[in-house]
Amino acid sequence: MDMKWQDMYAAKKKSAEEIVAMIPNGSRCATPCGLGEAVTLRDALAERAIAEDLSGIEHHLLLTLVDSKIYHPGMEDKMKHVSWFTGGFARKAVQTNTAEYMPGFYKDTPRMWREEVKADIFYGTVSPMDKHGYFSFGLGTSTARDQMLNADLIFLEVNENFPRTQGTGMVHVSEIDGLCESSPTLVTLPNTPISEKDAIVGEFIADRIPDGATIQLGIGGIPNAVGDALKSKQGLGIHSEMFNEVMMELMECGAVTNANKAMDKYKSVAGFGLGSTKLYDFVEDNPGVEFRSIEYLNDPYNIAKHDNFVSINATLEVDLLGQVCSESIGSKPFSGTGGQLDYVRGANASKGGQSFISTYSTAKNDTITKIKPILTHGAHVTCSKNDVDMIVTEYGIAKLKGRTASQRAKAMIEIAHPDFREELEFEAKKMNMIP
Ligand code: COA
Repeated sequence: MDMKWQDMYAAKKKSAEEIVAMIPNGSRCATPCGLGEAVTLRDALAERAIAEDLSGIEHHLLLTLVDSKIYHPGMEDKMKHVSWFTGGFARKAVQTNTAEYMPGFYKDTPRMWREEVKADIFYGTVSPMDKHGYFSFGLGTSTARDQMLNADLIFLEVNENFPRTQGTGMVHVSEIDGLCESSPTLVTLPNTPISEKDAIVGEFIADRIPDGATIQLGIGGIPNAVGDALKSKQGLGIHSEMFNEVMMELMECGAVTNANKAMDKYKSVAGFGLGSTKLYDFVEDNPGVEFRSIEYLNDPYNIAKHDNFVSINATLEVDLLGQVCSESIGSKPFSGTGGQLDYVRGANASKGGQSFISTYSTAKNDTITKIKPILTHGAHVTCSKNDVDMIVTEYGIAKLKGRTASQRAKAMIEIAHPDFREELEFEAKKMNMIP
């Protein structure tokens, strides 16, 4: 260990309370996504807000996994929350108007932090410092460096349980204004068993994925089931927004080698990670998995450089033309755009590429059809009819690209739940979509 960096570390080390005491009223505070959120500093800020007359704080977050007093009633006069993805505890906050939400593509987030929304204060979780003076943003890498770029004050929360990962999410002790040591246990994502329906959809998609393909798996039960069904394949690659449990399993069983990728050969690349403690051990200093900026990963041009790129993402509602709503239930925000459209576009532009949008045909014990004649009033469209290629339910695959409106409507009705097909046909006729 170079003593210079050790001395600098010691000089910058403070308590969480001392750090948040340095945050002026009216500051815009930013923290990385998911496990990268600096939860001890965030909670210390909440305590300061409770104890003192703090005002005008704008607190930006992206996928908060741990609840905090900061989101509870009583903070309204002191701070405003802005959520860049309606997931985790931010979902309730957005839906109850405790937090505002920021629409946007995930890939544009770094640029927005550089050019549109300057952070005054940045605080993020990192792994312990290495002998060269570097910390790693690890599983929260995706936007972290761009959020901190223009910040007036940069603080780190050094967590011994937080894995050091390879890739571009590094920050040097000389760049920061303060750090605290705090090692809360990392949140884990329960590995939900694959349901019968998930397995059916998973097989439909996996059957179409060739050996050597590069894959992206989105959030939800179906993308996980596809991953599970890919374990018998060979020479797959991973280029994805999120790194999850099934991706680790695909690497462990040898199905993923990353040998056929156009970029980042022999390495899986992702922006953030979430899973079990086993996953956190797996990514620790693993040269086979790199965490990088989301701007690079979710760029459709980079995605399309890989031949046979396959993207698999889930959705909440689709209409008969193939307009996809993956982020709201009616007008109620439920999730975010994330990288869904960018991966659809990248996969569509890849030589031999395929993009799948998956969903169960129904929700709420078969009482609601997720395939609708028109999207529910207020739905937030994630992928347009012109982007979407294949929609998959437990009843099959509807191929939409290169198909007319009436061919699309027929294909969508065929993959709807049988209880709703007649009604969908009736509505399609009423709209003159089918004769
Ligand atoms: N109407 C009413 N309720 C609906 C519904 C609809 N059309 N569709 C789903 N729901 C309900 C489900 O019944 C379920 O309720 P429950 O929790 O009470 O069981 C809940 O909403 C979640 O639906 P589910 O299908 O289980 O979601 P999921 O966990 O598979 O996630 C998305 C699906 C679309 C929310 C998720 O993939 C997402 O956030 N996508 C957008 C971002 C993205 O794709 N990023 C990709 C790059 S990583």
